[in-house]
Amino acid sequence: MKILVTGGTGFIGSHTVVELQARGFEVIIVDNLSNSSIDVVDNIARITGVRPLFKKFDLMDPVTTAAFFQKQSDLKAIIHFAAFKAVGESVKLPLKYYRNNLDSLINILQGMINNSIENMVFSSSCTVYGQPEQLPVKEDAPVQKALSPYGNTKQISEEIITDVSITANVKSILLRYFNPIGAHESAMIGELPLGIPDNLVPYITQTAIGKRDYLRVWGNDYPTPDGTAIRDYIHVVDLARAHVIALERMLNNQMRKNVEIFNLGTGKGCSVMEVINSFEKVSGMKLNYRIMERRPGDIMKVWADTEFANRELGWKAEKGLDDMTLSAWNWEKALAAKS
Ligand code: UD1
Repeated sequence: MKILVTGGTGFIGSHTVVELQARGFEVIIVDNLSNSSIDVVDNIARITGVRPLFKKFDLMDPVTTAAFFQKQSDLKAIIHFAAFKAVGESVKLPLKYYRNNLDSLINILQGMINNSIENMVFSSSCTVYGQPEQLPVKEDAPVQKALSPYGNTKQISEEIITDVSITANVKSILLRYFNPIGAHESAMIGELPLGIPDNLVPYITQTAIGKRDYLRVWGNDYPTPDGTAIRDYIHVVDLARAHVIALERMLNNQMRKNVEIFNLGTGKGCSVMEVINSFEKVSGMKLNYRIMERRPGDIMKVWADTEFANRELGWKAEKGLDDMTLSAWNWEKALAAKS
């Protein structure tokens, strides 16, 4: 069965391609390599023994995208990752985000409709919940006004997909990720942040390897047990597995309605200090960090209610925080060894 993975050379996309190939799916990756490297295709081939097909083009381009879909009309499903994801940059350059994340989605949905491709798994985010009133957060918690254009593109994308599925023959599973971290155990694929990372774990590993002077901990005066903010960190390989399970649910006609939403997290909140402590434990290093003011736009705490995903998908995150920080550290060391 042929599956299109957009953004398949990116962080979550590449891990998902590995899991798809392990389950025997034939994968075609489309990526414009704006935030990833072509080497990822080789590394996927090294891990799995199978080289996915790769096409480089921009899904924002309606003509190229339409021609691609016409040629690939035997696709069974699309897992759509390709999008910009830097929250801070999206505040500075909102049109870049709206144009890229929404035009590409619209072009893909048009391609699906024109070529009778029925199934889409979409990469969404827990950012749609903002600071939820109730924790753990369930899928039916209210979507709150987005705090950034990036977050807004995820909300609008969910709405576009839902609207399309009312009249077109399109089924979708929207996966709301909590905080994906870690890397494949082979240390051959992982997160490759462009420039200075915004996210916690790449910043920690880059500090430890000597690329950054110190980690800035954004606030330790939150009303949480140790004062630092809490997130639900999930291992990227657990997340990747969930995509394959969601895809099989679709292809086996097990969906209960045309659009389904699942939270993908571990159900356990960890503070910034707990992540640092875990990193220090698995690496045997002391991390250089300083406590700073809170980062504007950050929420205090969020973690997933995983009951629905556990029950309906039969999926559960298996890896703990130490697995996540250790695999991220091994990946950073492998990158340093290459350069
Ligand atoms: C946010 C979004 C998420 C989005 C992701 C993409 C929310 C709830 N989440 O994740 O949807 O996909 O960005 O980038 O809006 N921290 C530090 N120092 C650092 C970096 C981070 O202390 O140098 C802290 C943050 O304050 C936060 C935690 O670490 O408490 C995690 O931050 P980060 O990795 O940036 O992810 P989110 O902001 O949760």
